[in-house]
Amino acid sequence: MLKKMKIILLVGMFSTGYSLLCSAAHISRAELLAVGCFSCHGWEGIGAKRIPKLSKLTKKDISESLHGFKTGEERSTIMGRHAKAYTDEEITLLAEYFSNLKNK
Ligand code: HEC
Repeated sequence: MLKKMKIILLVGMFSTGYSLLCSAAHISRAELLAVGCFSCHGWEGIGAKRIPKLSKLTKKDISESLHGFKTGEERSTIMGRHAKAYTDEEITLLAEYFSNLKNK
């Protein structure tokens, strides 16, 4: 009986915690997509060493570059392969996300 109650209590705690986490975080689809870019371009698109700073670019620049990488029109070492993984809609979301960052 006691064991059962402990389990019920634990499940309750986890589900409350989970729903609190989800409602507090409000993670948008664009933010989720952008996580795939942070490892190279840095948090907030700051860039590192030879990796371009995304937060300085306009939405149009970012979108055009990603489409160019995707088709191979724009030369790249890495981005050509990476950009192929995103749909046109996702590219628009990413371009909006990085161009709207405060740190310009
Ligand atoms: C593995 C590292 C890596 C990841 C991950 C990565 N990039 Fe890049 N990015 C680069 C490098 C390196 C360049 C320079 C072009 C090249 O050689 O590929 C670049 C160039 C760019 C450019 C052109 C910038 C300019 O000034 O012309 C854009 C836009 C861009 N990346 C967007 C993104 C977005 C959006 C993501 C996430 C979907 C992303 N990158 C993920 C390494 C990365």
